[in-house]
Amino acid sequence: MLSHVRSAARSFITNVRGFRSSPAVLHDTLFVHRDSEDNNPDMEFVFNEENKKRANAILEIYPEGHKRAAMIPLLDLAQRQHGWLPISAMHKVAEILNVPKMRVYEVATFYTMFMRNPTGKYHIQVCTTTPCWLRGSDEILNIIKEKLNLEVGETSSDMKYTLSEVECLGACVNAPMVQINDDYYEDLTEDDMKDILDDLKRDEWPRPGPRNGRFAAEPAGGLTSLEGNPPGPGFRVRPDL
Ligand code: FES
Repeated sequence: MLSHVRSAARSFITNVRGFRSSPAVLHDTLFVHRDSEDNNPDMEFVFNEENKKRANAILEIYPEGHKRAAMIPLLDLAQRQHGWLPISAMHKVAEILNVPKMRVYEVATFYTMFMRNPTGKYHIQVCTTTPCWLRGSDEILNIIKEKLNLEVGETSSDMKYTLSEVECLGACVNAPMVQINDDYYEDLTEDDMKDILDDLKRDEWPRPGPRNGRFAAEPAGGLTSLEGNPPGPGFRVRPDL
């Protein structure tokens, strides 16, 4: 019996598949913080007067005992003020919400909308998830790389551009698309992307939205339903009701 068990164990060991691990998949930025000249806890961060009022208005939305729910809006406010999110701003938010700093780190490192390193004036985020990829996001990304001489995750030396590659931004029906700061640029061709970059070069804000003549996300070939005026109230309701 014992020899039978030993032989089964030997056969399992010799036939078992080799252990493999996949390479770490990294985002544009590290999830860890490294102190640097521009980003260290000794630098002071304070909200300016206008943003102090905004921060108070945000805090008032949340009831006592649930103020920590204001963390994302406050981090966003700090990022808008500073241009990106230094560790000192995270500490300020932790102080305002009276939570351990770790709670703020957890949020700021989880959401890629928080830029924890100096970021260019124009943050160009290219969606390369499947629908955008099928519609040519690789070509769009290559145009940007070529024209700006940047790789993904890099910021230009004049701090004008940061290039990121991101997952679905929820505008798949207008693929391919990029986000630049707060605006979406959709239904892009390579020429559209070149025009947008030319506008940015001149510091002119390009017109956001679809570039193929669509107003929003309606069918590209014209409406196929809901073509007439909607019937009014009481439509097909019994006359005696
Ligand atoms: Fe690009 Fe959804 S796949 S926006």
